[in-house]
Amino acid sequence: MSEEQPKAEHRSSPTSTQFREFVASGWAPRSTELPERTEAAVHAGRRREALSAAHPGERIVLPAGGLKVRSNDTDYQFRPHTAFVHQSGLGADREPDAVLVLDPRSEQDGGGHEAVLYFRPLAPRESEEFFADSRYGEFWVGARPTIEHVQAELGIAARHIDGLRDALGKDGATLRVVRHADAEVAAMVDAVRQEVGVTAEQLQAEQEADAALARELSTLRMVKDEWEVGEMRKAVDATQHGFEGIIADLPEAVRRGRGERWVEGVFGLYARHEGNGVGYESICAAGDHANTLHWIKNDGEVREGDLILVDAGVEVDSLFTADITRTLPVSGRFSDAQRRVYDAVFAAQETGIAACRPGNKFRDIHAAAIRVIAEHLHAWGLLPDGVSVEDTLDADHGQYHRRWMVHGTSHHLGLDVHDCQLALREDYMDAELTPGMILTVEPGLYFKADDLLVPEELRGIGVRIEDDVVVTEDGCEVLSAGMPRSSADVEAWIARVQAEARR
Ligand code: GLY
Ligand code: MN
Ligand code: MN
Repeated sequence: MSEEQPKAEHRSSPTSTQFREFVASGWAPRSTELPERTEAAVHAGRRREALSAAHPGERIVLPAGGLKVRSNDTDYQFRPHTAFVHQSGLGADREPDAVLVLDPRSEQDGGGHEAVLYFRPLAPRESEEFFADSRYGEFWVGARPTIEHVQAELGIAARHIDGLRDALGKDGATLRVVRHADAEVAAMVDAVRQEVGVTAEQLQAEQEADAALARELSTLRMVKDEWEVGEMRKAVDATQHGFEGIIADLPEAVRRGRGERWVEGVFGLYARHEGNGVGYESICAAGDHANTLHWIKNDGEVREGDLILVDAGVEVDSLFTADITRTLPVSGRFSDAQRRVYDAVFAAQETGIAACRPGNKFRDIHAAAIRVIAEHLHAWGLLPDGVSVEDTLDADHGQYHRRWMVHGTSHHLGLDVHDCQLALREDYMDAELTPGMILTVEPGLYFKADDLLVPEELRGIGVRIEDDVVVTEDGCEVLSAGMPRSSADVEAWIARVQAEARR
């Protein structure tokens, strides 16, 4: 546990009774208009039914998590925990400290669960919080919704967060919590467990069952329904706009200097404007920076003649995110060496995408793509002497090619950029591909500037091409098909977008 930071009083709130009365008065009445139930909430209801059916009699506790301190008394923008988003239908930055409880109903009451959202509702204007609380107060961070508002929006019961502890302990039902979403709520659950007689040894088993719940919730998201695929289409479309904004501004990124920052900023502008924001820190990696897989410093130059690898995704308000990479020649044309590397990665990606079909397993995507990578490296004479393609593909004794593509080719994508990450190997790597799964296909080749094993003309070239696909009945649909991929098509795309921008 970190210690509380010592507090100093540099900010003073007026405390006189006269002021309190004054600040609470003279405001227009609050609107009592209630929102419609959101689409996301309707879909969350269906998901809760599946969870409920798997946990008869258990009280399931899904925290949104709390605000995270950025520094001193300022917080990061809030991002709710993904399991909470999935089961509540709340997205964007809502609702710090909230906890969704699925409360078991007795058999006489029809069984199943009643969903209740415990949260911090709007505080009255008479409260000190209204004007004096810089973390939660209306004067500081804006008005929060009322209980009635949330009930209408989500179509479930909502109560004040202060009632959570008593609600957890009511009738001694077995508690299950997603622990890592909120350490304070996890501690509260453990305290309640001990109060109702759970022993120290039993507590460990309970906590293991909590971990199993988190895994189950992660695995539940693996096959997306039509609404979820629709949200992904929106995320991908907005991401395309962001990439086209970058392309239009590449000359500006070069001219201004500190160009990677400019590129990051341009994408961020589109992400905030068309969506909730970026779904992960954008990677804007020009020249040799492209060879650092998660280059998020983005503090370098964008130079004519170099490639810039941009890996970025817009997340929409429901928090579904795209995850797309394009590697663009800054001056609009690939050099021969750049094109050679690019075309190899493109061939690997085409093969990986072709492997995205029911009947194949998840791991077949990587196997298909990495074989093409290995074949190119072999043809270029980069593998050690005497090592054949089959030798290097040998999982136990080879893998030399991984020096130049150390990452996997694919991952599930959805509310999290690396979605379903807690799923077991048998449900993920070894699982059959099923219609509705959304995956990335993202091979790459990375030749670092100081890699003495590659010919000089390839050093400093890094290429990744990443697209998002949804598995269909007989193959897959590339959701990001609107964004050109082949080297010739990328060149034409850059020429077209920049010509339009000049008009
Ligand atoms: N942007 C992270 C990834 O491609 O997995
Ligand atoms: Mn990516
Ligand atoms: Mn990815």
